[in-house]
Amino acid sequence: MNPSPVSGSAVRAYFDPFAPALCTTPYTRYASAREAAALCEGPHGLIVATRHAEVSQALRDNRLGHGRLTAPNRIFSFLGMDPPDHGPLRRIASRFFSPTAVDALAPRISVLVDELLDRALEQQHVDLLTDFAYPLSLRVVCGLFALPEQEQAWIREQTPPIARLLEPPYALSDNDVTAAQSAAGRFVAYLHRKINERRQHPGPDALSALIAEADTGSTLHRHDLLPMCALLLMAGYETTANIITNGALALLRHPDQLTIARSRISNGQLDSSTMNELLRYDSSIQITFRTVQRPTVIAGRPLPPGTPVALLIGSANHDPRVFSRPDRLDVTRAHNPHLSFGAGIHYCLGAPLARLEASLALGRLLARTRRIELTCGTVRHKATTATIRGVESLPATLTPA
Ligand code: HEM
Repeated sequence: MNPSPVSGSAVRAYFDPFAPALCTTPYTRYASAREAAALCEGPHGLIVATRHAEVSQALRDNRLGHGRLTAPNRIFSFLGMDPPDHGPLRRIASRFFSPTAVDALAPRISVLVDELLDRALEQQHVDLLTDFAYPLSLRVVCGLFALPEQEQAWIREQTPPIARLLEPPYALSDNDVTAAQSAAGRFVAYLHRKINERRQHPGPDALSALIAEADTGSTLHRHDLLPMCALLLMAGYETTANIITNGALALLRHPDQLTIARSRISNGQLDSSTMNELLRYDSSIQITFRTVQRPTVIAGRPLPPGTPVALLIGSANHDPRVFSRPDRLDVTRAHNPHLSFGAGIHYCLGAPLARLEASLALGRLLARTRRIELTCGTVRHKATTATIRGVESLPATLTPA
């Protein structure tokens, strides 16, 4: 964060959300930006909202949006759409994430968690990301679509380059764009094949239900089917895997909080206040982007159409105006209006599933271990993306309970 002179004598705060150093020390950098201004200037005319009030307001303001989908971004389906296109598609997908639908997944998720923990406890030395969090979140989301286990590693490789397309074009190098486009091409070809196969042999899964809707219903057009499948597959696993490891790391670094969290486990799950605090403290989504579609005002500043805006979710979650002692992990925190799942019309559709999965994963991990010891000196965070926050790996030694 540097002060940067702009028009006339005014000096405005500057904050670059794509600065490579951000992944190592995001929260101290956010703090200086937040204290300097509610809206900072960023690269390429970007306006960066830093405080909870403004991020929350902007997420709910439909004068900010995405505008016309560009060809490569079509793969994000309704995540990248504005009203009136957004609502009908979101409603179709929402049936898979209703409280009843998500509750019905709990027994299966518990079995998956325990299978992975059985193996991890046998090995004792594990990487909590690649041996636990990734396989769990992939199996859950691929299970919704009944995709075979042997294809899941391939699916995992395609997603990170495609997810970079969520960032503004100037944040991407030519190589990033080429990698994203070729991964998107492979993913689309794969889903085409799966849709054709499943059309011949439908089953009791979400993919079959969406195909039936597209073939017989009036709400889901055939050209919307594939992007919707792509979005639901991609949105669900990287974010959830990273909140499991971010949450584990936060608890391991705060043994007093880990003890409290362990004492509050019920039905093998973390309690909701611990889960909310882990989501707030180190969210797996740090930032989201919008473009002003119709004139609006944020923090008293008029923003004309076409203005690109970055909303710092991670910074809003540590705003002392809303959270007392925000940089402290407090699993008993009572007032916790974090923005980790967004807000407004794009509020995370998968939030109930993500909460269930992460609280079962961490609850069972704590309940089935007496001791968890990190075996890496320095924990490194993924540096390739501004949007997603997660560790590169989390090696640990587990002592069974
Ligand atoms: C801890 C894990 C997760 C986090 C932190 C997270 C975060 C978010 C955020 C911040 C948004 C809003 C983006 C924006 O406003 O620009 C979002 C939207 C979305 N999320 Fe999640 N998510 C998680 C897990 C999941 C899961 C498990 C699924 C589904 C399997 C999912 C599906 C979606 C979908 C479909 C949207 C788009 C909603 C819309 O545009 O109406 N997410 N998520």
